[in-house]
Amino acid sequence: MIFGATGDLAKRKLFPSLFHLFRKGRISKKFAVVGVARRDWTHETFQSHVRDSVLTSIGQSEDIEEFISHFYYQPHDVSNSESYIKLKELADQLDTKYELQGNRIFYLAMAPEFFGTITDHLKSEGLKDTNGFHRLVIEKPFGHNLPSAEKLNTQIREAFIEDDIYRIDHYLGKDMVQNIEVIRFANALFEPLWNNRYISNIQVTSSETLGVEERGRYYEKSGALRDMVQNHMLQMVALLAMEPPIRLTTDEVRSEKVKVFRALRPIEGEEIEDYFVRGQYDKGSITEGDLTGYRDEVNVDPESNTETYVAGKLMIDNFRWAGVPFYIRTGKRMSSKATKIVVQFKDIPMNLYYNPEEPLAPNLLVIHIQPEEGITLHLNAKHSGDKLKTKTVKLSYSNTGIHGMNTPEAYEKLLHDCMLGDATNFTHWDEVKLSWSFVDKISEYWERTEEKSFPNYASGSMGPKAADDLLEKDNFFWWPIHNLEVDKC
Ligand code: BG6
Repeated sequence: MIFGATGDLAKRKLFPSLFHLFRKGRISKKFAVVGVARRDWTHETFQSHVRDSVLTSIGQSEDIEEFISHFYYQPHDVSNSESYIKLKELADQLDTKYELQGNRIFYLAMAPEFFGTITDHLKSEGLKDTNGFHRLVIEKPFGHNLPSAEKLNTQIREAFIEDDIYRIDHYLGKDMVQNIEVIRFANALFEPLWNNRYISNIQVTSSETLGVEERGRYYEKSGALRDMVQNHMLQMVALLAMEPPIRLTTDEVRSEKVKVFRALRPIEGEEIEDYFVRGQYDKGSITEGDLTGYRDEVNVDPESNTETYVAGKLMIDNFRWAGVPFYIRTGKRMSSKATKIVVQFKDIPMNLYYNPEEPLAPNLLVIHIQPEEGITLHLNAKHSGDKLKTKTVKLSYSNTGIHGMNTPEAYEKLLHDCMLGDATNFTHWDEVKLSWSFVDKISEYWERTEEKSFPNYASGSMGPKAADDLLEKDNFFWWPIHNLEVDKC
């Protein structure tokens, strides 16, 4: 059952992902999807909406009629018990018709203020009273800060146990994010070097070219810190920093990630100025033309203090990482759309190839998360013709270049995992709790102190200058992401 089935997420991501799973035979023929939303639609209207969504996104019509015949619609008022009783009747009928054995997934693809009300009703109106499994999938944001997340968690835990709650962080469904563990734990090459003896710093960049578009109302209350750092950025850091789990089970992987969050050095008050930089986009221009500044966007306060960019230095105070900064940065309206991780290794102890014109470059391992997908290793090799000169060579693996096809959409994998009951790539409450408590101290400080320099970066740039200074203080610099492109094999 998809709550919020007439919304944007369902249309852009969920229906096409379900269709892919259906086409690949990963969903058996015994399934039904009930769209639940306020609009007074019929089953037929909903089915044609699903058909449009799939055709627009995939352009594939084979099997589409059979696929949409599994879709049903139930008009719904989230706070009205009657609505749930009708939904239960429909669900029970479909249970019999498709022999679903009482297995149910409730997907809440809607505004989080309704999550608690819905889960209360699902329980009290008996939608969970069947013999099969009952899983709850929740979209972000999971709360606005720790107290609101705790309140929400307490409420949904009245109806669902932790093991049945699947909190979506769509970055965890991305193929190359999942690849971080494989690169680390399936190669003899990296793991012995993966520590403060050999790594000087790690940089995680997730830049976007789009602005806030029509989401000004939400974004004004969120900002980049809550929207991207609390979840996606910290999750990538946890995967990069965690210890090898003893097994790849949900509990073991999560427990290693939790340890990373516990080791994150908390920063508060004025010291935040030394670790974090905030930015807000001004107007600017890119190839497509002129762009408005954040303060001129729809539903945005003309004097807004909300950040659309964050750069930060995270310290993980444990044996493996003591002294190694993890730099993160994310922002809207930047010069390119890219998510990349750069692992910079320490300089060799002695340089035999001293060249004042071209100092020996450090070794880098670049993990290209999106839109390019791959890995590049930067090494030094001999410059042909000159025995003392070196040059950087790149060994590249490109996911898309080799297979000539796109990897599955994150939602496709996450939906499939949920059907299989595998919660490894979903966030456990302990991770959510610890990441909010880290982020809250920063957002509280930023809300108290107005950033006088806002807007402080032009649309189409790579963010404010202060973000470069943050690394310069430590004698590092952001590796320019446009120079790191993966070489196609
Ligand atoms: C979402 C944020 O979680 O992630 C958006 O709410 C952001 O503001 C998006 O644009 C980025 O996701 P992706 O997959 O495009 O990098």
